[in-house]
Amino acid sequence: MATPKHHCTPSFIFLLFLPLLFHFNLGKGDDLQLNYYSQSCPNAEEIIKQEVTKLYDKHGNTAVSWIRNLFHDCMVKSCDASVLLETVKGRIESEKESPRSFGMRNFKYVNTIKDAVEKECPLTVSCADIVSLSARDGILMLGGPRIEMKTGRRDSDESYATVVEDYIPDHNDSISLVLSRFQSIGIDVEGTVALLGAHSVGRVHCINLVDRLYPTVDPTLDPNYADYLKGRCPTPNPDPMGVFYARNDRETPMILDNMYYKNLLGHKGLLTVDQQLVSDPTTYPYVENFATDNGYFHDQFARAVLLLSENNPLTGDQGEIRKDCRFVNSN
Ligand code: HEM
Ligand SMILES: *[C@@H]1O[C@H](CO)[C@@H](O)[C@H](O)[C@H]1NC(C)=O
Repeated sequence: MATPKHHCTPSFIFLLFLPLLFHFNLGKGDDLQLNYYSQSCPNAEEIIKQEVTKLYDKHGNTAVSWIRNLFHDCMVKSCDASVLLETVKGRIESEKESPRSFGMRNFKYVNTIKDAVEKECPLTVSCADIVSLSARDGILMLGGPRIEMKTGRRDSDESYATVVEDYIPDHNDSISLVLSRFQSIGIDVEGTVALLGAHSVGRVHCINLVDRLYPTVDPTLDPNYADYLKGRCPTPNPDPMGVFYARNDRETPMILDNMYYKNLLGHKGLLTVDQQLVSDPTTYPYVENFATDNGYFHDQFARAVLLLSENNPLTGDQGEIRKDCRFVNSN
């Protein structure tokens, strides 16, 4: 029996609009997939991991940088490698030049990773996925959790220097501002407290601390710890690039563990934003839980890193696959 013609029409129209449905879905983490490069570059994740490991063996703090890169890239609009672009006069103003990017380092070694990947698969693997996967691998190198991460992000053709401060909080911003920034990209209070645990590794420059030490010591700071910090930062007006030292975590500065939370409970938080996690009643219970259970901290850290890494990616035909992470392809 032949189907009357007019019955075909609705489904035909539906088919016409099908691509649009997919289009509306673009830009969500749902469009990323596990093993996105399994056909186009099967060794991509392995090559990245090898390079991250080699770099870590030579310069341990590269692993620390990959974690901060993920935050600064994904928090500002999208996980799109916009943070890696260099300033090109009249065309691009680099996010690296924002005051919030102060102290970021090891960018040149991103090229080492990208070059190794390009050699095997030219113009196939995005810089945005390198940002995410290198953070994932760096976390493991530093004793953090193993994280299964989706790929398929594409690279921006813009850097968003002028809006970085609207997304990345300052070292002394209020807890409510910090929580609302993370909430706006779908990360809840517990996830935010867990992500700040990244401050279990790395360094802070004195310029970000002296307002807690001079002219009077912040009363939420343990007095002995304050004396130690004053020894590290002896003047209220330090040379910005001058003296620096490891983080909260003097005991295990290169291990991504819950010592950060134990130190917070002991009033040895380094930045104002760190210490506030203890004084605020909405964040305090999570600090306590993470301080008593490193495995639970790692679970929550992994969950929040995934949310961060899936913030609003460019996918499909958006953006491009950069050849050199520092520059857009067409200039
Ligand atoms: C309220 C949110 C945050 C603020 C205000 C903040 C602020 C800072 C500041 C001021 C520094 C020190 C820069 C310097 O003096 O050299 C720093 C370092 C660092 N931050 Fe954050 N941060 C925040 C959240 C995060 C998150 C969510 C991550 C990652 C998941 C992260 C990872 C790092 C790392 C790894 C370092 C050490 C970098 C190094 O040693 O090279 N931060 N952060
Ligand atoms: C935070 O510290 C900066 C200096 O790093 C200072 O200019 C600013 O006024 C401080 N903000 C608050 C809210 O105290």
